[in-house]
Amino acid sequence: MLDTTLANRQRNHLLDRDSVWLFGYGSILYKTGFDCLEQRTASLHGWVRRFWQGSHDHRGTPDAPGRVVTLVREPAARCLGLAFRIRPETLAALDVREKNGYLREAVALELGDGGRADAVTYIAPPGNGAWLGPASEPEIARQIATATGPSGPNRDYLLDLAASLRALGADDPHVFALERTLLALPGR
Ligand code: BEZ
Repeated sequence: MLDTTLANRQRNHLLDRDSVWLFGYGSILYKTGFDCLEQRTASLHGWVRRFWQGSHDHRGTPDAPGRVVTLVREPAARCLGLAFRIRPETLAALDVREKNGYLREAVALELGDGGRADAVTYIAPPGNGAWLGPASEPEIARQIATATGPSGPNRDYLLDLAASLRALGADDPHVFALERTLLALPGR
């Protein structure tokens, strides 16, 4: 199975600092699982959240992958999420959690109070070994409705993410349309 843990250990952006901002836009919005020093809403200009990454290890299996979010470049877009100020050593566990295709990237965040911060996030790039890419909303929703993996049903991932984004006040037509489509599927 694709494993980016070792590649990420070489990607030492910002790790010479006492603390580092981590940008979260996916499962981390409802399941952190690490200690953080501070948390703020934040946004990333030029990127959108998309259910275009396959999940072989959390919300699906290699034979029946789920779909999870990654960030995709879109110049006029803005992705709303959360910034967590963490100790750099916390990233080692996140490298393992995000090992199915995600790479650590340095990004420039806008914080909720209007400030700016250099940050690290994890992005699964197009063409990685678990990449699925775009598909129609019904197709993505059907895949999410049926996939399940060691971290639980893919359905819960989508519904928990949508609830977290609503609580943040995020406008995310892609995620909310998938939520509506999934909930309208027969038997759901
Ligand atoms: C996320 O789900 O957004 C995420 C998870 C781990 C590290 C960074 C971001």
